[in-house]
Amino acid sequence: MELISRMMDGSIPYDPEGRLEPVSSGPGANQGDKIERLKEVPMFEACSQRQLRTVARIARVFDVAAGTLLTRAGEPGDEFFLIIDGTARAEVSAEKRVTMHPGEFFGEMSLLDGGPRSATVVADTPVRLLVISRRHFTRLLTDVPGLTQTLLATLSQRVRLAEERAARLGSAATGP
Ligand code: CMP
Repeated sequence: MELISRMMDGSIPYDPEGRLEPVSSGPGANQGDKIERLKEVPMFEACSQRQLRTVARIARVFDVAAGTLLTRAGEPGDEFFLIIDGTARAEVSAEKRVTMHPGEFFGEMSLLDGGPRSATVVADTPVRLLVISRRHFTRLLTDVPGLTQTLLATLSQRVRLAEERAARLGSAATGP
């Protein structure tokens, strides 16, 4: 099971090696601060104050060290991640790495289709993440319908880039 999943379900309170720590979470955390931070995230910019309160209630914030494995290709996945600070890389294949920056998200594919993680994602730098569990993610898409459109647009871009890349590799293999 992915490390953050174990922290989210409470089976470990924190990373035993001290690399990963929740900084604020759930009820009791400073919701005002969280809402202010959420307003700066492009994915949530069209949200009403009420919707931001919902996101702040369900999302947890984690700080992870550079090198932390966030998702592992082929494993089941139960969380959606949004990068607040730092960069992470998706290792899509042996040759393909995609660097993700603040405001970008990952982990949506396993939540949407129930399949295993499609890529390994590793923190390139220290990263601050917003993490939403599967149960809450499903509810969030119902409560904030605009997010579905954002997810679909990102998935479309990823498919488009993958197709372009496959076409380039195909023409490189067959030659002029
Ligand atoms: P998921 O399959 O749940 O876990 C790994 C994540 O890596 C995946 O969701 C996407 O969010 C991300 N990912 C997979 N393939 C690509 C890609 N080609 N470009 C960018 N991100 C990707």
